[in-house]
Amino acid sequence: MAALFINPHEDPAPWRAALKRRIPDLEFRVWPDVGRAEEVEFAFCWKPAADSLEGLPNLKVLFWLGAGIDWLLEHRARVPDVRIVRLVDDALTACMTEYVVLHVLRYHRSQPQLDLQQSQQLWADLPQRLPWNRTVGLMGLGVLGTDAADKLKALRFKLAGWSRSAKTLPGVECFHGDDGLVPFLNKTEILVCLLPLTAQTRGIINARTLGALPRGAFLINAARGGHVVVEDLLAALDSGQVAHATMDVFEPEPLPVGHAFWRHPRVTVTPHNASLTDPEFSLAVVADNIARYRRGEPMVNEVDMAREY
Ligand code: NAP
Ligand code: GLV
Repeated sequence: MAALFINPHEDPAPWRAALKRRIPDLEFRVWPDVGRAEEVEFAFCWKPAADSLEGLPNLKVLFWLGAGIDWLLEHRARVPDVRIVRLVDDALTACMTEYVVLHVLRYHRSQPQLDLQQSQQLWADLPQRLPWNRTVGLMGLGVLGTDAADKLKALRFKLAGWSRSAKTLPGVECFHGDDGLVPFLNKTEILVCLLPLTAQTRGIINARTLGALPRGAFLINAARGGHVVVEDLLAALDSGQVAHATMDVFEPEPLPVGHAFWRHPRVTVTPHNASLTDPEFSLAVVADNIARYRRGEPMVNEVDMAREY
C-alpha cells in the first residue's frame, strides 16, 4: 500500500525521508505521480489542488498537515468521505506559544510606542504595568490556547479564556458560549484569537466584540483571517478602541499588495508563519496514527466534520 503526499506548497523530500525512517514498508508517492491509484491508502495533504483527492478508491485516512481544517470545510464537496485526522504536535504548539508570548510581551512592554519614540529620537519614560494587573484573554482554549495560557501564567499575567464548552483551568478565569463572550471581552486588555474557523466563529472579531473590549485594547490574531471583519477592525484602530493589532492570518492569503494593513502604523503583519508544520515532528505523529489505524485502535486528533473542528 502507499501514501500520497499532496502538498504543492512544500518540498516532499524531508517527508519522504521521515516516512522511510518510521514506516519503511509504506511507499511514498508525490501527487500528481499517483501510480496505481487503488494502492493509495493514506493521503498527507495541505491545501491540495482542486482535483487531487478524486479517484482514490481505497483511500482510508486523510492526514491534514495543519491544525485548522477550515479548507476542508470550505471544499467539503470535493473531500472524500474518509477518516480525517488533523495535526497536533509539540513543535506546532511550542512555536505558536512563542508567537503569542512574543506579541503579548511586546504589547505589555509598550514596544510599538517605544519604536515610535525611537523614530522621533524621543527619550521618554512610559509607565510600567505589572503582569498580574494586565488581563490577557484567550479566545479558544484548545491545544494551542491552553499551552499559551500555561506559559503566560508562568509570566504571571492575569488570564481569561473563552471556549464553546465550560472549562476549569487553574489560573484562568474561564467563560464559555454566547453568554460568556461579552463578560470575557469586558476584562480582556490583550485579546489573542486561537479559535478554529467555523460557521459559528467566522467574523467573530467585529464591531460588537471589539467594542466590548476595554478602550485601547490590543489584538493578536494567529487563527484565521476569516475571524476578523476587516472594516470593523480598521474603524476600531482609527477610533483608538483598539490600540494596535498583530495579525498572522488573512483572507485572502497572501495579503494583497496595497491592502490597508500593510502600511497601517498600528498594525503588525506576519506572513502566516506563527507556527509552521515541521516534517520530522508531524511525521512522528502521523506514523503513530498509522500504526494505531493498522492495529484497529482509535487514532488521535481525528476530526469531527459535523462539529467543524
Ligand atoms: P482546538 O484544539 O480544536 O481548540 C479550539 C478551541 O476553540 C476549543 O477550546 C473550542 O472550544 C474553541 N471553540 C471552537 N468553536 C467555538 C465557538 N463557537 N465558540 C467558542 N469557542 C469555540 O484547536 P487548536 O489546535 O488549538 O488550533 C486552533 C486554531 O489555530 C486552528 O484551527 C488554526 O486555525 C489556528 N492555527 C494557526 C496557525 C498559524 O500558523 N497561524 C498554526 C496552527 C493553528 P471547546 O474547548 O469547548 O471545544
Ligand atoms: C496552520 O495555519 C495550521 O492550521 O496548522
